[in-house]
Order: sequence, then structure tokens, then C-alpha cells
Amino acid sequence: MGMNAMLSIADLQKAAKRRLPAGIYGYVDGASEDHRTLRANRSAFERWAFTPHALVDVSRRSQSTGLFGKTWSMPIGIGPMGVCGVVAYDGDCALARAAASAGVPFVLSAASTTPMERVLRENPDAWYQAYLPANMAVIEPLLQRVRAAGVGVLVVTVDVPIASTRENELRNGFSIPLRWTPKLVVSGMLKPGWLLGTFARTLARQGIPHFENFTAERGGPIIVAQKGDHRAGRAAMSWKEIRAIRDSWKGKLVVKGILRAEDARTAESIGVDGVFVSNHGGRQLDGAVSTLAVLPEIAAATTRAAVIVDGGFRRGTDVIKAMALGADFVFAGRPFMYGLAAGGEAGARHALNLLKKEIDVDLALLGCPDLAEVDGRYLRDMRAAAA
Ligand code: FNR
Repeated sequence: MGMNAMLSIADLQKAAKRRLPAGIYGYVDGASEDHRTLRANRSAFERWAFTPHALVDVSRRSQSTGLFGKTWSMPIGIGPMGVCGVVAYDGDCALARAAASAGVPFVLSAASTTPMERVLRENPDAWYQAYLPANMAVIEPLLQRVRAAGVGVLVVTVDVPIASTRENELRNGFSIPLRWTPKLVVSGMLKPGWLLGTFARTLARQGIPHFENFTAERGGPIIVAQKGDHRAGRAAMSWKEIRAIRDSWKGKLVVKGILRAEDARTAESIGVDGVFVSNHGGRQLDGAVSTLAVLPEIAAATTRAAVIVDGGFRRGTDVIKAMALGADFVFAGRPFMYGLAAGGEAGARHALNLLKKEIDVDLALLGCPDLAEVDGRYLRDMRAAAA
């Protein structure tokens, strides 16, 4: 089915499910424990309804949005996601190129299988997301590598002190490092498009994928137990390391995984440039609050740092609601993995195009032709209305 038949992110999700082995689709789509936070991220949008302005001239519309000294074509970027290479051939670079051609930010995950130096050649504006141990002797050489690669924005993810419990991955026999469980082998055989287009092509052209970007050194292959544990020391991470990173990293610094206003204030007082409101798409603490629920108080608590948010954004209207509630920029994860699975770079680009088109239509219908002007006056709190 061609991309033009994919009318929404939900269509891309269905196509991804058809294309991927069950274990890999489960890795992309799943979340921790009972999926409460995954659902909360989506249902939080229902609280807010639009109050559109009538008879505003909307013949010219703008959604370009500035962040960290650059103007992006739309207010939503591609967030960091690990092991994109198991979803599509050369997945990290496919996402990086889709973002570059659309004019939106792309964040390369620490858990990626393409050396950051190559990704930065494909997309010189790419950001890098780090998973860090509480050990400056490991962090410093990594920061040097990231700087030398040309990265301008460093995103430190702080909501994965240890791995969460993702039962669907255990049930499907999916794990990283990948193990050849019978379930994984059988589910791979059932998906010939993936088997040939992703798996065989990757082995033939690039060999066995390796983690390349956890530390200053290249990592081990992702299908056998690794030498050394890249997770070692991560649970001990504290604000002390963020302070030390701030002292040594001269580029923009973003802390991803903030859900409390007081943490946003701490980040800002340390000199962090961006507070990234995230619950990891419901993949870490299940039962954690939805990001949209805490966005207004975090936006109110910050003055200088940019407020970035992700979690459950699937429509243009979702993005506009977050911008109206105080976000400076929005990211998403799964929508671009669905696109990547369904159609590689073109599929990821299609996901971006769909969202851009929706935002454009929605701004016109809202009677707010300039996204920069959207604010809380365009929203009605339906929970307060019902009370
Ligand atoms: C993620 N996420 C993530 N975050 C991060 O900081 N480093 C990572 O390596 C990953 N890996 C990852 C893999 C996959 C398959 C998914 C779906 C997500 C979390 C991601 O950056 C983002 O916070 C969520 O995906 C946002 O929620 P939505 O847009 O997927 O609903």
C-alpha cells in the first residue's frame, strides 16, 4: 500500500503492525506494566476543547517555531528512540534524513546502532541523547566525542535509572541484547517484508548491529551479551552530575524526563537550557502522571529554559493544545517509528507531513493563523466545566 493511502498516524501504526514481527512491534508500541501512563498521555488531551475565533483572516498561516537559535518548519520533532535499526534498514539515518528534509529536530538515542559521527554527516543539526552513569570519568570522554561529532544540543535522559518492567517484551521473547528465542525466530519468518527488507539487508550490507553511542568507545553487538554493562552506575546519577555536565558542556543542555515543577526549577537554576517534560511515553514508571497534566505548572515554574514536551502526540490538534498550555516545542516517538516501519525514510517523512498538514488545517479552523499566538484563551477546560 502506498504512502498516500496512509491518511493518519493511526494508519501508519496499522501498517507497522502488519510489517513488523510481533516482538519488534511490541517493543515499539508497548509500555511498562499495565500501560496506565501510556493511556493517560492520550486521554489527557480530552480535558481540553478548543474555542475557535470566528471570522479571522486565516488565508496566510505560519507554524514555524524557533528553538535553540534555529527556526524549524513545524513545532514537532523526532525524539530519541533506541535500536531503530531493528525496525528498518539503516533506521537511525533514515529518521535523521527525514527530519533534515522536513526541517525539524532529530534526537539520536544513546541506544542506537549507527556511529553518531555518521548520523551527524547525514543531518548536521542532529541532537544527541545520553544515558549516563554517575561517573564523570566516563561522561567527560563521551562529551568530547559528542562535541567533536558536531552536536549542538545534548539531551540527558533521567527517567531510566534502571530498566522498567515491560511484560509484553518478556512474553514476546524480545530483549536487548537480542536473543534468538523460538518466538522471535518464528515471528520473524512470518513477516517476509521485514525479514528481507530489514533483517537480511542489514546483515548483508552492515553486518551485525552494534551499540555505537553509549560511551566514547564503540559498543558490542546487540545480539549477544555485551562486554561491560552500559547501564552500570546509572542508578546513582543525581543533580551533582547535571551540574558537572553543565560546567563542561558548552552547547545547549536539555534534561529529559521531568514531571515536577520543582525539578524544572532546579534544572533551570543549574543553567539547563531545556526542560523536557516526559514520562518516556509510558515506558518507565507506570502510573506516572500524563505529561499534559503537568505541562502548565512546569511552564509557569520556568522563566528562561525552553519547555519541551512529549507523550501521546498523534494529531495536529494535540500539538496545538500543548503549545497553548505553555510548551515551546513538542516531540514524538512512536509516530515516527510507525512511519519508519511502514516505509523507511519516506514513511517517517510522511508521518511528519501528515502532522504538518493537520496543524496547518487546524490553525485555520481555530481562527489563529500564527501558531506563536496560540495560548490558553483558545482552550476550554472541560473538567472544570463539568464540575
Ligand atoms: C523510546 N524513548 C526513548 N527515550 C530516550 O530518551 N532514549 C531512548 O533510547 C528511547 N528509546 C525509545 C524507544 C522506543 C521504541 C520508544 C517508543 C520510545 C522514549 C521517547 O523518546 C519518547 O519519550 C516517547 O516515545 C514519547 O511518547 P510517544 O510519542 O511515543 O507517545
